[in-house]
Amino acid sequence: MSALRLLALSGSERAGSLNRRLVEAAARAAVARGAQVEHLDLRSLALPLYDGDLEKAAGVPEGARRLRDVLRAADGVLLSAPEYNGFPTPLLINSFDWLSRLPAEADAPAGLAVTAGKPLGLFSASPGPLGGLRSLNLTRQYLSMTIAMMPVPQQFALSRAGEAFDEAGALKDAKQQASVESVVAALMRVAAALKAAG
Ligand SMILES: Cc1cc2nc3c(=O)[nH]c(=O)nc-3n(C[C@H](O)[C@H](O)[C@H](O)COP(=O)(O)O)c2cc1C
Repeated sequence: MSALRLLALSGSERAGSLNRRLVEAAARAAVARGAQVEHLDLRSLALPLYDGDLEKAAGVPEGARRLRDVLRAADGVLLSAPEYNGFPTPLLINSFDWLSRLPAEADAPAGLAVTAGKPLGLFSASPGPLGGLRSLNLTRQYLSMTIAMMPVPQQFALSRAGEAFDEAGALKDAKQQASVESVVAALMRVAAALKAAG
């Protein structure tokens, strides 16, 4: 079987984002296990805030097609998302809301057909004591309801994330690294089984 192709996403792409660092650590763990990982910067999709009038006037923006295409090519997704006031970030929700508006086209299935059944490994990182756990559970719910992705049961919320990484971007604490690896391993097991099943 060819190498698993994973997509890495972060719900924040600001300079120095702790969530991007965490998903990059997860991506390295996946590469060490033989996966190929592509990182997509959700900001690069340049998706405006969802607005039904805008959609009516101009259709779904091209950025949503790019998201559809990279998701379509991926066997699974690694995602780390920050918590803003107990909720997932607008960058994350807005990207997937636009994707959900993409109908089937001549050369591609609908946005929601691409996400349906896609294995997902979930993370969050916060400088706070809970590591974004409250929003992590809401992210799980959001992406597994109509978006219909398939999160593995394992997940990891990195607390005190500002002090967690060394200069090379690796997690300093072996237990935290093991938690990351358990999510990655579970995701890869599910993704490999689904890929093998065709
Ligand atoms: C609008 C806003 C709301 C926030 N609310 C929370 C919160 O509810 N819980 C929390 O742990 N951190 C909260 N934070 C702090 C973020 O976890 C912190 O800024 C984190 O570094 C953002 O992720 P990033 O580093 O990947 O950009 C909030 C930050 C912002 C900007």
